[in-house]
Parts: sequence; structure tokens; C-alpha cells
Amino acid sequence: MFKAATYIERRKLLRKSMGSGLMLFLANEESPMNYPANTFHYRQDSSFLYFFGLSSPGLAAIVDADADTDTLYGDDIGIEDIIWEGELPKIKDRALEVGVRRSAPRAAFGETVRQALADGRPVHYLPPYRPDKAIVLSDLLGIPIKDLKAKASPAFIKASVDQRIIKSKEEIREIESAVTISREMYLAAMKSAKPGRYEYQVSGVMEGIALAYGMHLAFPPIVTVNGQIFHMHSHDNLLTRGRLLVCDCGAEAPSGYASDITRSVPVGGRFNARQKAIYEIVLAGQLSAIKSVKPGVNFKDIHLQTARIITDGLKDLGLMKGDTADAVAAGAHALFFPHGLGHNLGLDVHDMEDYGENNVGYGEKVERSSQFGLAYLRMARVLRPGHVMTVEPGIYFIPALFNLWRKEKKHREFIVYDAVEKFLGFGGVRIEDDVLVTEKGHKVLGPPIPKTVADVEKACRA
Ligand code: GLY
Ligand code: MN
Ligand code: MN
Repeated sequence: MFKAATYIERRKLLRKSMGSGLMLFLANEESPMNYPANTFHYRQDSSFLYFFGLSSPGLAAIVDADADTDTLYGDDIGIEDIIWEGELPKIKDRALEVGVRRSAPRAAFGETVRQALADGRPVHYLPPYRPDKAIVLSDLLGIPIKDLKAKASPAFIKASVDQRIIKSKEEIREIESAVTISREMYLAAMKSAKPGRYEYQVSGVMEGIALAYGMHLAFPPIVTVNGQIFHMHSHDNLLTRGRLLVCDCGAEAPSGYASDITRSVPVGGRFNARQKAIYEIVLAGQLSAIKSVKPGVNFKDIHLQTARIITDGLKDLGLMKGDTADAVAAGAHALFFPHGLGHNLGLDVHDMEDYGENNVGYGEKVERSSQFGLAYLRMARVLRPGHVMTVEPGIYFIPALFNLWRKEKKHREFIVYDAVEKFLGFGGVRIEDDVLVTEKGHKVLGPPIPKTVADVEKACRA
């Protein structure tokens, strides 16, 4: 948690940009795994964390732009909770910790909202992403659950995005603290990726390090020799020499800020010639993308530039052909690089995506493409100092996509299908770092994590 002044300032700015009305905040509640008392690791809602800093269930809050007040709602715990859970400060003291002078019992939240609705005052809420909170909002506002997302407040969403998308120095420090632990996780992963082990042994080592530093994982880890399957969350494959292990993991600092790093590691510690060739293309694309990050540049143009570098590299290997710019304009490179170059990062690993991907990554100025590949780009804004994004190109050999495209004779003028066929079974390579836009250019956040072929191989041997 930051000092109270940070939260006071954030809410003041929100009141100012909204101008009028009530802004509602609901804390996340505990989420049961298999019976009510056995819950998943608790994670506070990021909007609540950003504006109110407190990380526990049972809370709600209202920012009132007309009355210029902020109120925290919650109940002081009784003796039974104290016996099972331990003491907690009184609600009024918890409110003061984050600079809120008004507090009230939880039931008063609903009464206040109902009164505001009866008085015809604007009541703004953010799109709910948890079913239990959708039920609470639906009951309170009289909006059917199926309509809640569509009726969420565009003004509240925009005001929150505008504030949260530019990171302060203290936020950057938190993200860097998470990247620092990621480095330890990756050094250990590189050492652990030995033939005869299982993926879960590597992912267990990585998660253990996050926990041992008082952090958690920011998202379910991807640790897989099937890097061509992007969200592969099972970790039960045996590691064998000649496979590449894609490790995409992030740590979450106690403050909630995340890191999101990917390294692709040769099992046994040596890239073979083919792996090295593909890896060098991805690395060249990533380094050139990072170099291009500076204020005034649209991230979409950096994505397309990276796609051209990947296409050039694949042409050199005989896997693609034809004019590079034409191939990328047509979307042919998406056979190998079908995802976006990166996304915003902050309190959420895909920052603020609960507000809607386009609201965060596109805003009002840029239209999202519907072209396969480019459509998955989550960030297409003109860069400003304080933006933090991931830069994470990759090359993958996805048999199902290859078979489909070849059958359809898709992009035959750019893809050498017979040559690509020999790479099926390769898996994939992705390299991901977290990058801050600075006044003059950019900064890769956190201490360097081995990334060149030589450095990764060395870390594997450590
Ligand atoms: N970890 C998911 C991603 O890189 O976006
Ligand atoms: Mn990632
Ligand atoms: Mn990412």
C-alpha cells in the first residue's frame, strides 16, 4: 500500500474528471474452490486497489463528485471473526490509512445508492467480471445481469483508464520489484530445464521463488514444451533434449503490481541450429521493437515493424517469400506470429482488461483491425511517457493452423508450405520483457534477465 496522499490524489483527480455523480467501487469477495470455507488465494479488485488501496473483502466505497466526498463502507469484525481470522483495525481506521475520512457500515452502501437513484443522480459503475459482484450490482441498480456490462459507465471507464495507464514513479518501482523476482525465477528455470525432468518441476521451482519472496504469481504460469499452444496451463510433459521450453510467468508484488516475462529455454542448455535460427529472428524483432519505443510512436506501427523483421528472417530461412511489406499487409506472417506484440501492464497483467480491451488498448482514435493476427493486438495507442507495456514477439509452428491454411491455399505467394512442414513439431519461441515509455525513449524494467543465445546457454549451465 502507498501512503494515504497517493490515494487522496487519485480520488481527487477522478472526482475532477467525472465532474458529477457517484462512482461505485465493490471490493472482491473470497471465492470458494470446492466448499465455502476453502477459498482461492484472495485477490482484491484492481480498481478498488488503485483508488482505495485496501486489500480485503467485505468492503465497498463511493466517490461522490458533487459532494466532493469519498466514503468507505464495511463492518467492524466481531468476536467470532477475531477468533478465527485475528484482529483487524476498525473500518474508520482502515479508511484513514488511505486518506478517507468518512466511513459507514456496509449496509449503508446500498441505501446511499438507492437514494441517489431515487433522486435521479448519475450513478456510475465499472463492468463487473465476477458473477457474485454482478448479482450485487444487478439487485442494487435494477439492471438485468446480461445487460450490466453494456450499461457500465463509459465516462467512469475512460477516467479510470486515463489515470491508470500512466504509471507514477512509485508504481514503476513496484513493477520493477516484481521483475526483480522474475529474474530469480528465470535463472532458476534455466538451471532446472534438464532432460528427464518434468515441466511441473520447473514451474514449481518458479512459483516457489515468487512465494519465497513474499509474492504470488500474477497469472497461471505457462511452462511448456508446446510453446505453440499459447495458454498451455498443464505442466506434465517430460523434458527431452531437442525441445524448447517456453516459460511465460509473472510475479505479483504485495501491492498488486505485476511483471510478465517470457524466456524460451533449450532443454539441456544448448540451442540446436534450427532453434538458434528461429530464436535469433525473434530476438532481433524484440530488440528492434524495444528500440522503437518512444513517445509519439503508435505501438501498432511497432507491432507491424516487428512483423516485417520476422518475415524477413523467415524469408532468409526459406519459409516465406515475396515482398515483405506486402506479406505483412496481407497478414501472411500471422501463420507464425498470430498474436499481438504486447499489452499494457500494471496492477493487472493485462492491465485494466476488465474495462474492455478496446477501451484500454485503443481508446477513441484507433480502430481495431479484424485481420487475423492483427486483431489480437491489445495495445495500439500512441505512446506517452509513463505507459508500461510488454514487448513479446514470437514465432510458432502450429500444426492445425498450418494444415488449415495449406488446405485453403492461403497466402501461397508468401508462404513456402513444403519448407514450413519440416518445422512442425518445433513448438515455438517467445521473448517478453516489460518496457516503460520515458520522456526520451524507453527503459526495460528490472534487472536484465538472460536473453541472448549465449547468455541463456550460460545460465542453463550455471
Ligand atoms: N502471460 C500472458 C501474456 O504474456 O500476455
Ligand atoms: Mn507473458
Ligand atoms: Mn504478456
